[in-house]
Amino acid sequence: MKAVILVGGKATRLHPLTANLPKAMVPVLNTPFLEHVIRHLSRHGITEIVLSLGHLAEPVEAYFKDGSGFGVKLKYVLEDSPRGTAGGIKNVEKLLDGTFIALNGDVFTDLDISVMIDFHRQKKALATIALARADDPTHYGVIETDAESRILSFREKPAAGEATGNMVNIGTYVLEPEALAQIMSRTEVSIERQTFPQLLTQGKPLYAYASSAYWLDIGTPDKYLKLQADIMSPDLSGLDIFNPAQSVRVGQDSNVSPSAQITGPVLIGSGCFIGNRVQLVGPLTIGDGCNISAESVIENSVIWTGAWIGPRVCVKNSIVADHCYFQANSVVEEAVLGDNVTVCEGSHITPGSRIASGTVVERTA
Ligand code: GDD
Ligand code: MG
Repeated sequence: MKAVILVGGKATRLHPLTANLPKAMVPVLNTPFLEHVIRHLSRHGITEIVLSLGHLAEPVEAYFKDGSGFGVKLKYVLEDSPRGTAGGIKNVEKLLDGTFIALNGDVFTDLDISVMIDFHRQKKALATIALARADDPTHYGVIETDAESRILSFREKPAAGEATGNMVNIGTYVLEPEALAQIMSRTEVSIERQTFPQLLTQGKPLYAYASSAYWLDIGTPDKYLKLQADIMSPDLSGLDIFNPAQSVRVGQDSNVSPSAQITGPVLIGSGCFIGNRVQLVGPLTIGDGCNISAESVIENSVIWTGAWIGPRVCVKNSIVADHCYFQANSVVEEAVLGDNVTVCEGSHITPGSRIASGTVVERTA
């Protein structure tokens, strides 16, 4: 069975991280997010995958190439203008044959896709949508079903009080080719707001596969930090991405001072230098080629590659994109920094800040 992954969204809620990088390439435990999604599909025997791309496609193609390095066969289809979630699938129709999987490319899940495919076949569905619980359904597509799991209604991002429950669409579909028949080619169409409701009105067999799977949409910085914490926790150790029994992992050619204090879970990339009396407190990921100077404290954060962190710097609950430079005694809390940001000596970035790529943050008096 083939799969199509939708990776064409603009990801504005993750700016400035996604100003120059597609959401699919945002690193999670030093691995591009999409690689986790592809490996999950391949664990379920799905190895022929089409990526439906729009905005910022080049870094994705440059990294994954033909997929052979990841044990899969990848094809790329680029949109000249955004087609929406249904249009993005319609656009790759010619590369699909028979029943297929479609996925939102920004959702991490351990959903048992093999069982979902069996469920779809058993129900003789035209479309099966995976559901799971959401604490706040207003950010998602809320779906109501009958006792046989047949879908009764869709409400995309309902207002508070209008949600009919908290089982939501987690962005994994099993679809028959006929589900695409009515989508107009070369137009922007939403599968959640247009295609599925239209098929429902026509009485087509749409089913929901409800599960208690872990799932998380990395759409916002808070969720991105939460995903890192969750993957590093014992709860998701079955996925074999991070082994909590080895809660501090140091990459090749990295040098950690014996006086550094490290409280896992912490993942340090390759070619890093961790100086004297540095304190690292997990959940924390440090990308390749980072330098952390003496007595700095880094806690519950994601630091991408090539950061140069001077002495006595404090970074907490933050996300730091590639090649940022922190001068001595600077403090960054609950912030998101784009690429190549310079934080000047003694400056303090306050909670909630989002600093655009290339900014020089001066010390305020
Ligand atoms: N190719 C292509 N073209 N892909 C697109 C386009 C497009 O025009 N627009 C969005 N996508 C991709 C995004 O990159 C993402 O991977 C996926 O489609 C879903 O788009 P989002 O913009 O992230 O949607 P959402 O998170 O607000 O809502 C969707 O996901 C929720 C679960 O996280 C909906 O499917 C909801 O119903 C669902 O609950
Ligand atoms: Mg999303």
